[in-house]
This record gives sequence, structure tokens and C-alpha cells, in this order.
Amino acid sequence: MGTAYVVASGKGGTGKTSLVAGVGAALAAAGHRTLCIDADIGLRNLDIVLGMTDRVLMNFADVIEGRCTLEKAAAQHPQLQQLYLLTAPMSLSPGQIQAEQMRTLLQKAREQFAFCLLDAPAGIGSGFRLSASSADRAIIVTTTDSSSLRDAQRAVMELSEYPQLRSKHLVVNRVEKRLLRKLHRNIDDAIDTAGLPLIGVVPEDEKVRLATNREVPVILTESGGAARAYTNIAARLCGRRVPLMRL
Ligand SMILES: Nc1ncnc2c1ncn2[C@@H]1O[C@H](COP(=O)(O)OP(=O)(O)OP(=O)(O)O)[C@@H](O)[C@H]1O
Ligand SMILES: [Mg+2]
Repeated sequence: MGTAYVVASGKGGTGKTSLVAGVGAALAAAGHRTLCIDADIGLRNLDIVLGMTDRVLMNFADVIEGRCTLEKAAAQHPQLQQLYLLTAPMSLSPGQIQAEQMRTLLQKAREQFAFCLLDAPAGIGSGFRLSASSADRAIIVTTTDSSSLRDAQRAVMELSEYPQLRSKHLVVNRVEKRLLRKLHRNIDDAIDTAGLPLIGVVPEDEKVRLATNREVPVILTESGGAARAYTNIAARLCGRRVPLMRL
């Protein structure tokens, strides 16, 4: 039976989708059957980041409403055989899907995949709640900006409404090397503000954006920087002890 992770943030644009794509690709490259689920209903873009826009014909609402099986709707990545994507509906609103339906979907997904990564929408609205209520564990992505940290703190508070979440971890994204002197203080502040243990630090890396533009997962073309950080986080999700990378 697999494990479902919700990747959320509070503030928008902190790097959730990039993290789901990077860590999902790294898990698949390590041989784990992985399903990335775009839970950003109406504003999906995980298909673009994974380079799979032409492969996603059916979405998770099609599965929930019985128009299609999960096996059919989960599209396989062109290069990574163990990586699958279940995309979000474009024309529904999150309020039209019941938490119970999402939980049933995730139950099916856990039977078929070792890891399910839910890319939650920004904020703490109904899309966030739908994702949080169907996951086993949570990852909060923040940058070191104070507004991002405050929103992360808020998201962590909201997550306490979901007692089935067995763990909550923090990823600090877009950490800049040139702020090295302040870096440790920033990361410590992030951990203190969010009140969560750290599972990874991802450096600011223009390769993330370039990979998105090329529609190829960054871990397939790069080995350092953010790609390395995503691979390390994937290893930690598999229970391996990997030291935090030196920036
Ligand atoms: N480590 C990084 N280094 C450089 N750029 C990054 C990094 N992580 C994410 N980005 C860039 O930041 C932007 C937002 O990233 P992304 O779409 O992953 O965030 P998000 O949290 O999913 O946003 P939203 O809340 O809108 O869903 C993108 O342009 C992405 O390429
Ligand atoms: Mg996103």
C-alpha cells in the first residue's frame, strides 16, 4: 500500500508544482511507481512542468464520476516509466467535488502506486482542504520571505484539522547562495515559524524555470542545484538519511 503526500503552501508561487514534478520524477527514476496528482482544479499546470500536456486526456473528476478508470486516466511519462500523472479538471470548481470522493480516489491510487503526490492549489480554500483530507502525510513549501512564512504557518494551523496526517514536513525553497551568511538564520527562522521539521532545502536555480520551459523534468538534465535537492528529498521520503546539501 502506497503513501499519499499533500504538497501545500498557503502563499502562491512558492514552488509546490516544481517540487511535486522534481521529487515525483526522482522517485520514479529510483524505481518507485509514482503518481503525481494535480489538485489545482481550474488552474492546473503540472502537465506542463512534467512535459506531458499531450498525454493527459482524462482528469481525476472523470475517474471520480465513473467515466474512466484510474488506470486509463493516469498518463505515463514519456521518459520515466514509473512516473504517472493524473491531471485536474479545468471546468469544475473544487466545491463540486466531495472530500469523500477524493478519499476513495486516493484509496485506489495507494493500491497501485508506492507514492502519490498531490499538488495542492495555493491558499487554504476548498482545493487545499480536498487535498489535505485525502492524504497521509503533508509537505509545506515556503520561501524565506516573511509573507510566505506567515502563510506557511497559517497552512500548518489548518492542517491540524486533519488528524489522519501522520507527519508534516517543511521544504524551504529558492534559497539564495549569495545570502549565505544569513542563510542559516533564515532557515532556522523558517523552521521556527512553521513549527515543522525540515525535509529539504532547495536552492534558487534558474534550471527549474528553464526545465519548465523545455517541458522536461529538471532531474533528467541536471545533477546539481535544485535537481540534487529534489533527489535528496525523494531519498528521505524513502526513509534514507541524506545530509542537507551544502549550498
Ligand atoms: N528553486 C527554484 N529556483 C528558481 N525558480 C523556481 C524554483 N522553484 C520554483 N521556481 C519558479 O517559481 C515559479 C513558481 O513555481 P511553481 O509553479 O512550482 O509554484 P507553485 O507553488 O506551484 O505556484 P502556485 O501557487 O501558483 O500553484 C515558477 O516560475 C518556477 O519555475
Ligand atoms: Mg502550482
